[in-house]
Amino acid sequence: MNKSRADSRPRLSKQGFSPDVCGRINFCYLPPVPPKKKIAIIPGDGIGKEVIPQAVKVLEASGAPLDLTYFDWGADRYLKDATTVPADGFAMLDRDFDAILVGAFGDPRVPSNIHAKEILLGMRFKMDLYANIRPVRLLDATLCPLKGIEPKDVDFVVFRENTEGVYGDSGGVFKQGTADEVAVQEDINTRKGVERIIRYAFEFAAHNKKADGSPRTRVLMCDKSNAMTHAGGLWQRVFKTVRAEYPQIKSEHMYVDALCMQLVRDPRPFDVIVTNNMFGDIITDVAAALQGGLGMAASGNIHPGKTSMFEPVHGSAPPLAGNNIANPIGAILTSAMMLSHLGFAEAAQKIEAAVLEAVRQKKTTQDVAGTMGTKEVGEWIANKVGS
Ligand code: NAD
Ligand code: IPM
Ligand code: MN
Repeated sequence: MNKSRADSRPRLSKQGFSPDVCGRINFCYLPPVPPKKKIAIIPGDGIGKEVIPQAVKVLEASGAPLDLTYFDWGADRYLKDATTVPADGFAMLDRDFDAILVGAFGDPRVPSNIHAKEILLGMRFKMDLYANIRPVRLLDATLCPLKGIEPKDVDFVVFRENTEGVYGDSGGVFKQGTADEVAVQEDINTRKGVERIIRYAFEFAAHNKKADGSPRTRVLMCDKSNAMTHAGGLWQRVFKTVRAEYPQIKSEHMYVDALCMQLVRDPRPFDVIVTNNMFGDIITDVAAALQGGLGMAASGNIHPGKTSMFEPVHGSAPPLAGNNIANPIGAILTSAMMLSHLGFAEAAQKIEAAVLEAVRQKKTTQDVAGTMGTKEVGEWIANKVGS
């Protein structure tokens, strides 16, 4: 069903017609029912299939009006019938759904990782989801591996460019298998692509607050322009142009190596970080460690106004899969991010508050100092949200 028409038609009351005060016949409509948002759910592989059901439980408990449709895209389907993405798959997601909730892709039975590339990177690239937004927030001091760091010290957001860079699949291998073998992986950076992600980061900083209510005040652009001068030069030029439009926001720059060092030495100065595709990937795994590990980290792949995709930062973690030990909180916070994006701010806040409570009471999995299983944590948080 087309999402723009779903549930939006006015409904005739049981009475059918009713005369108005002058005796004329009126169509009598019931008050419009808020349309349900259509969500595509793609659990994927490994622990994706365990954490997404918990996120769904919590979404259902939140009472947000959602209509969920499941898709079996992932390694099992690929091994069964060689399908990664069915014909017209991305157009269907874009046309028929308001948002997509994804688990993770990656399975040792598919060493080429072709299905992950076609499904996950396919969604990001072909649906033009240019902003991979990864909030980094420490919920409890006990979760941070750094000494003396408290929740107020870690509350920043990474804007990772999501449709270009070295992920663009441009390049090739020549003379494969010979002593003269050459592999080329090109780093594609367009002015349009760089400008829109940098602008999004500034817009976000200008219009959003931190969890403690203080304003966001700084945007830091991260590159490696001292060595990668062609791409870095473009990022530098565009950053200078865009920042001039936001004089109220302090703009800063760091090379990616120095930034990674600073993140683990003292994460307090960071507010909004904008960077390219690969550096964003690496920085957000380091940043996940500051939050308590990959099991805690959420993300959205967003193009404002288009069907966007939400996924935890972690992967399919094959060694954990099937044991009910994966932390579902990253997926649950991701679902809250999706609700907030869809306009259900209150439901999203309810979920975030329940997660905070779970962390404080150690109603968590082993990786974050708890003793509960994946399902039990999901149930606990869902009960809290529903109460
Ligand atoms: P990973 O994120 O799957 O796991 C790395 C380690 O982090 C795990 O071994 C575990 O110790 C920890 N971890 C991750 N998620 C956790 C959770 N929810 N709870 C507790 N601990 C958790 O990264 P990897 O091992 O490098 O990759 C495994 C597979 O996942 C690969 O095939 C990779 O390509 C894929 N991957 C997919 C995505 C995605 O689909 N978005 C992201 C990253 C990796
Ligand atoms: C992530 C993952 C992906 C990426 C992989 C699975 C291609 O690491 O979402 O962070 O590098 O973007
Ligand atoms: Mn990653």
